[in-house]
Amino acid sequence: MAVGDTYRAVHARSLGDPEGFWAEQAATIDWSRRWDKVLDGANAPFYRWFAGAELNACHNALDRHVQRGRGEQAALIYDSPVTSRKKGYTYRELRDQVAKLAGAIAAQGVRKGDRVIIYMPMIPEAVVAMLACARLGAVHSVVFGGFAANELATRIDDCAPKLVLTASCGIEPGRVVKYKPLLDQAIELAQHKIPRCIVFQRWQAPASMVKDRDLDWNEAVAAAQPHGCVPVKATDPLYILYTSGTTGQPKGVVRDTGGYCVALDWSMRYLYGVKPGEVWWCASDVGWVVGHSYIVYGPLILGATTVLYEGKPVGTPDAGAFWRVISEHKAVALFTAPTAFRAIKKEDPEGKLLKSYDLSQFRTLFLAGERGDPPTIAWAQKLLGVPIVDHWWQTETGWAICGNFVGLEPMPVKPGSCSVPAPGWHLDVLDEQGQPMKRGEVGALAGKLPLPPGTFPTLWNADERFRQSYLAEFPGYYKTGDAGFIDDDGYVSVMTRVDDVINVAGHRLSTGQIEEVLGAHDDVAECAVIGVADELKGQVPFGFLVLKAGVDRPHQDTVREVIQMVRDRIGPVAFFKTAIVVPRLPKTRSGKILRGTMQKIADGQPWKMPATIDDPAAIDEITGGLKVAGYAAKT
Ligand code: COA
Ligand code: AMP
Repeated sequence: MAVGDTYRAVHARSLGDPEGFWAEQAATIDWSRRWDKVLDGANAPFYRWFAGAELNACHNALDRHVQRGRGEQAALIYDSPVTSRKKGYTYRELRDQVAKLAGAIAAQGVRKGDRVIIYMPMIPEAVVAMLACARLGAVHSVVFGGFAANELATRIDDCAPKLVLTASCGIEPGRVVKYKPLLDQAIELAQHKIPRCIVFQRWQAPASMVKDRDLDWNEAVAAAQPHGCVPVKATDPLYILYTSGTTGQPKGVVRDTGGYCVALDWSMRYLYGVKPGEVWWCASDVGWVVGHSYIVYGPLILGATTVLYEGKPVGTPDAGAFWRVISEHKAVALFTAPTAFRAIKKEDPEGKLLKSYDLSQFRTLFLAGERGDPPTIAWAQKLLGVPIVDHWWQTETGWAICGNFVGLEPMPVKPGSCSVPAPGWHLDVLDEQGQPMKRGEVGALAGKLPLPPGTFPTLWNADERFRQSYLAEFPGYYKTGDAGFIDDDGYVSVMTRVDDVINVAGHRLSTGQIEEVLGAHDDVAECAVIGVADELKGQVPFGFLVLKAGVDRPHQDTVREVIQMVRDRIGPVAFFKTAIVVPRLPKTRSGKILRGTMQKIADGQPWKMPATIDDPAAIDEITGGLKVAGYAAKT
């Protein structure tokens, strides 16, 4: 057999006989009722996997492992260099804590299908909170701690939760982020009123409580009875996770329960090559999809040990932190974003700190969140001497669209490519008319419907937006929003987004959303935001402001204020630090702002004067402004 034959046979089977393929994979999951139909396409293009089946995700992640002899195995290792704490939880301990918190949540009237927002840092209680919701069949929506009150309020109004679970603070290097005042402010801002919050107090910044609304976490749990697992339909939502759209209104990606459990278990075994009982580390955050799938549900459904890391790749305390965690907990694989490795490389280019640690059990490094840039991949490969696997996925898809399936059969790595499509993914590169392009040509990457289990069935309360955003442009396909090409060996390279989404340190942001904030400043008549290349973060947002006639304050005052507004309204995670004032924006004759050209100029890439430009002089003004700001050096 030639290299790749095993993968190719599995992939071909998943497309040729999707129902047979996924029904077989579903055997690793405990179901309380078997499905009537593996794939229900009666309401296409809305597809449903495992229709008619019932199960509980928390049972699959915890209880069944305790029942089958894994009770004393570590389920979770909390490693927190920012608080100097480490703590292990066995499957039994984690199940018991989850059952008690589920009891406390149920005591507040939360039932199957009710929504619960979780706004918490990277502490074990965040994992307990997610699993406790899953246990009750309540739909959780985790909001990343780096978002501001306004973002939290938008999510509260969209999913109308009955309860918020929070912690008093998060800890960033050198600063304590008080979550509770942000939550209080969000509740003020939101139309939907929250009857109850359960607050986990951390000693670093205890929160003040609102009478008759806020409950202390430990007291609520102490008073609760453990709650059992409530079966839900396979097609019921396990969670909603908001991600950047093109406007200030984020998209509520819905994750169903059954297909997701099946896909995660499959991917843990065959994409990540991890076995039950092994230690696995995903250095993301529970606020992102990667954290949902591979800090919490994936490794626990498999019966592995998951590491929960509250720290950074550098500065907590140094660029050897990742090596310490891998060696101390004997992790067999790590999943992180390329930006984390760029940060380590910058601090310790020779990798000297690695020499103090034993990584002999470490097998594979997985990178995602942004394109794995070849220099970073080469550096990591040389240093670690293990396969470095770039894989591509999105909040919408829940797990990888493409990857190198090392648990099935390692394929050769091609730096710059995220390897080959996952089972169930028929990917095409389409031109503007929706016609498939030739191998090697760059176009829109689109997946033929139906997508595999685990991918999103719709957006929360927004079927039409789902259809318009993802399915309308290329009928019969899911538009990924990414552009790239497929080579002669079937390897996929993802090059750029086709919309206004930018990727900042592996975090997905909408430039349109930042523009909405800038446009709200009294001085600003018009604005544009682009992502400019950044050595460490991949991209960072850069703003252009056109001021209203008659504004005669110093420009730096307006700039300082808009930067603060973005931090206050979107959050520090937007990393919006640079803006310049320009006389006007370059536009086409029909009034479209030429963001693509501006970005090329800023990045020093070759660009052409667009034939449709209204006034070429506007480009000179932009270029001049960028040069003063230290960009456009190569033009
Ligand atoms: N709560 C509150 N604030 C947060 C936060 C959180 N959970 N996470 C980040 N922030 C803040 C940071 O403190 C920083 O604020 P500052 O501007 O006041 O310094 C800002 O948001 C940007 O944070 P970050 O993007 O983390 O940048 P950084 O300079 O602190 O660190 C890296 C750079 C590369 C080390 C870091 O971005 C990293 O580890 N990235 C990996 C990303 C990742 O795992 N992505 C998941 C996809 S796989
Ligand atoms: P998110 O929904 O936050 O996970 O971000 C998804 C987006 O990140 C994708 O649409 C891509 O633009 C980008 N992305 C993720 N992984 C990769 C990768 N391996 N290569 C290139 N881009 C990636």
